[in-house]
Amino acid sequence: MKKLFFLYMSSCIAACTKTPQPSTAVAGTTTPPIKAEISIGAAIYKYEDTFMSGVRAAIASAAEGKAKVNFVDGANQQPVQNEKIDLFIAKKVNSLAINPVDRTAASVLIDKAKAAKIPVVFFNREPMPEDMKKWDRVYYVGARAEESGTLAGQIIADYWKKHPEADRNKDGILQYVMLKGEPGHQDAELRTKFSVKAIEDAGIKTQKLAEDTGMWDRIKGQEKMAAFLGAHGDKIEAVIANNDDMALGAIEALKAAGYFKGQKSLPVVGVDATAPAVKALEDGTLLGTVLNDALNQGRATFNLAFILGQNLPPTKESIGYELTDGKYVWIPYKKVTKENAKDVL
Ligand code: GAL
Ligand code: CA
Repeated sequence: MKKLFFLYMSSCIAACTKTPQPSTAVAGTTTPPIKAEISIGAAIYKYEDTFMSGVRAAIASAAEGKAKVNFVDGANQQPVQNEKIDLFIAKKVNSLAINPVDRTAASVLIDKAKAAKIPVVFFNREPMPEDMKKWDRVYYVGARAEESGTLAGQIIADYWKKHPEADRNKDGILQYVMLKGEPGHQDAELRTKFSVKAIEDAGIKTQKLAEDTGMWDRIKGQEKMAAFLGAHGDKIEAVIANNDDMALGAIEALKAAGYFKGQKSLPVVGVDATAPAVKALEDGTLLGTVLNDALNQGRATFNLAFILGQNLPPTKESIGYELTDGKYVWIPYKKVTKENAKDVL
């Protein structure tokens, strides 16, 4: 607000001194219009998503005292989200921050925003590169999915090397099950691929026993894991989940099957480092996770939307984050295990 006031004051000084108004002017004409508060329309793909709730809270707190951010829930349906974004456009918000339900919908959303001259910051769900090129006022804030997959895989590889008993059937091969996020989501596809690649790059042979999507959801993760246990039982030597909610669901299913009591254990990894996941690290059920930095992703999203909404150029100085290729802000991931769990909280 201070900054806005300053901007307004400086433009006023220039304009007002050039054309002094006669004192007889009709009331109101001497007062230049007060620049309205910056308003940002923020669309979240689904409120009922643990990690996105953290990002939403971070955007809201970054906006405090600076701009008005209106949040809307896409309820995991693109047509619902489209309608709400149309309303933001009709209300002429200064900028849009969009976490699309379907990242391929970005193309249409960019066309609409461009026609209305409203800049857009996408976050968490990365539009296709060709869509990002459609307009110079389109940006993306996220984290490099392959990096999180690699870090999760390294946690499993380290464990495997330190715990020979983890190779339950002593065949020298790591038999794993994969709980995948939403198919088509960059984080689901790349975490799946790069977690296994990291294990193999560490010189460990792997065998996939089963893979299914738990759609980022804890209950679905639990159900899928129960099915994996039903089909493969003791043959499973590791669980790789694309996020913490599914990993925590898997841990519930494992507990129900007698794991995490006495000596019976199994390495389970997730991604996000949500509060309940960090608690599970401390309890010793979750082996490891990867910090998906909701705080900095939220802050960067707000800062970009705020600068763009004022028609100012986004730079490292103005938004506080490095811009790659002029339009991407990448927030780094970090490995989290029991040892550094406290630092994350
Ligand atoms: C991922 C996150 C998941 C889920 C998803 C939603 O980055 O790890 O837990 O929130 O985004 O798009
Ligand atoms: Ca084995």
